[in-house]
Amino acid sequence: MSETTQIDVERVLCRREDLGRDGCREFRLGSGPWPLRCFVIAVGDQVRAYVNRCAHQALPLNLLPDRFLTHDGSMILCTAHGAIYEKATGYCVAGPCAGRSLESVPVQVVAGFVLLEDSVDADSLCARFAEPPAP
Ligand code: FES
Repeated sequence: MSETTQIDVERVLCRREDLGRDGCREFRLGSGPWPLRCFVIAVGDQVRAYVNRCAHQALPLNLLPDRFLTHDGSMILCTAHGAIYEKATGYCVAGPCAGRSLESVPVQVVAGFVLLEDSVDADSLCARFAEPPAP
């Protein structure tokens, strides 16, 4: 007899195997012209997700798609001015925003998929980070 796990497909961010042991994958929350940019990152066997907004000047951390890490893959790097964050905590250990942190987005792995945790209200999170339209 097989056991079936039901998942909410609207909360799926990616397959866990897509991340490997140290991969990253961008995703967006919300709809409309200003969805909230976020990314999910593997930290060994664990998975974390953060809003893709640097604690320094609120710029996106990456220039290239799905590229968030330092050269050796051990830390998260902001390409704008070089802030360096811990992968497991989002805490900035070096750079112009040292001591501050990325905004965490709770995620979980269910049946081989990375999902937003049930506690995450995507609309509320998007509203908190709402950007004004360009002039
Ligand atoms: S915006 Fe990230 S270090 Fe300045």
